[in-house]
Amino acid sequence: MSIHEDVFTRIRSLLEEENDWVSAMSTVVCELHNSFEHFHWTGFYRTVEPELLKIGPYQGGHGCLVIPFDKGICGAAARTGKTQDVPDVHARPEHIACSSSTLSEVVVPIKDSNGKVVAVLDLDSDLPAAFSTSDISFTEDLCQYLGTKYF
Ligand code: SME
Repeated sequence: MSIHEDVFTRIRSLLEEENDWVSAMSTVVCELHNSFEHFHWTGFYRTVEPELLKIGPYQGGHGCLVIPFDKGICGAAARTGKTQDVPDVHARPEHIACSSSTLSEVVVPIKDSNGKVVAVLDLDSDLPAAFSTSDISFTEDLCQYLGTKYF
């Protein structure tokens, strides 16, 4: 079993009986952050009102609390509903640098059963181009699962 399959299996099993999204997202962040050494900041931003993200459960250094849909890589994921794969954050001027050590980032939208973006999952790394295609497809599968189960 690959590490991605292993982590996904563990998350599904941990969440099997869990209905509360805060407990679930906190558990997901913990599992991801501690399973992958190149995940240096791992966390959720939630759509709390139209066009506005607020921070959810996370691990790593301090994250900014509020991100409008028209700002940052997180905002781009929420606005477009598409995964943002950013191997070099300095190549994306709209990137919000919560930490100056971040060099690459992936943000995946989470959609409810109506296709509305209800949250995003943000992965940041201090390594350049840290996230593999397997990391990204695993994260997309995970976000699809979370969207249908919790939102
Ligand atoms: N880099 C993100 C902001 C969130 S933090 O990095 C934790 C962005 O550009 O949206």
